[in-house]
Amino acid sequence: MINLPTSIDDTAALLARADYVAERSLATALFLALKMERPLFLEGEAGVGKTEIAKVLADTLERRLVRLQCYEGLDISSAVYEWNYPRQMIEIRLAEASGKVNEASGQAARKKLSQDIFSEQFLIKRPLLQALEAGADGAAPVLLIDELDRTDEPFEAYLLEVLSDYQVSIPELGTIKADKPPIVIITSNRTREIHDAVKRRCLYHWVDYPDAARELDILRRKAPGAAERLSQEIVAFVQRLRKMDLFKLPGVAETIDWTKALVALDQLALDPDTVNNTLGALLKYQDDIGRVRGSEAERLLAEVKAEIATA
Ligand SMILES: Nc1ncnc2c1ncn2[C@@H]1O[C@H](COP(=O)(O)OP(=O)(O)OP(=O)(O)O)[C@@H](O)[C@H]1O
Ligand SMILES: [Mg+2]
Repeated sequence: MINLPTSIDDTAALLARADYVAERSLATALFLALKMERPLFLEGEAGVGKTEIAKVLADTLERRLVRLQCYEGLDISSAVYEWNYPRQMIEIRLAEASGKVNEASGQAARKKLSQDIFSEQFLIKRPLLQALEAGADGAAPVLLIDELDRTDEPFEAYLLEVLSDYQVSIPELGTIKADKPPIVIITSNRTREIHDAVKRRCLYHWVDYPDAARELDILRRKAPGAAERLSQEIVAFVQRLRKMDLFKLPGVAETIDWTKALVALDQLALDPDTVNNTLGALLKYQDDIGRVRGSEAERLLAEVKAEIATA
């Protein structure tokens, strides 16, 4: 376990150690979330590094990462806990076979059996319950609740309870409370609004597309094989694309993918043909590709070359 960062600069440096390049405002939100022991709620477009934050935090702080991937219909038995029915059944059969519990045995024996089969031994812990357990070194884990907007409202209401007290009530067993609150990162792609009550418990940060300088820094770290000139042109091109009215703008993930694709093609700089032929690494809708391919790509590329020549 590594100690929590003690300043905003310290937080940014911690993330940079795992090649995550954070804006000052994100480092601030994260520092405060850690210091105030509050969940951090990250909203933003796809591929801008929301999920990555939790992974990087767990890595650099040497904590266990507990991930709850949300989806429509996510329920308590997948998110919190479930009784291990097959094992419970076997236990009952064994008790019957050994004669400990049968028609003739008393109420006390049956009561004891039902207590036994609803003990922790028969409990299957799912992510939210796992996140309440500290590691062997006593460190609380990092809990990533990813893409919360995909679940439905009843689940959100349940989550609210867990996030308020960091405890889970199991009717047959009692209440399980975290010794130490986990570090919680919640992400959403904003396909719907998350309830105010959940947001109120969290610190909120909108993760935006990076500016050119930050995106270049990300590329230097994530695609170190790319020529400097190529990276500069890619960043300038992508930054221009993001100003266009496209159905789906490219995220950082796409910029990294495109760069890796161009490196695989041994490109040292962009040219119109290569751009046209590799747009699929950057844009994922045929309409968007259709709009950019050809004359638009050529125009953007001319702007990019001119910008870099005068820089
Ligand atoms: N600021 C950053 N520094 C370094 N790498 C980044 C940064 N932002 C994004 N990336 C990289 O971009 C990729 C996508 O990031 P991630 O999966 O976290 O995006 P996301 O916001 O969770 O997207 P989605 O909404 O699609 O799940 C990762 O490989 C990550 O390393
Ligand atoms: Mg994600």
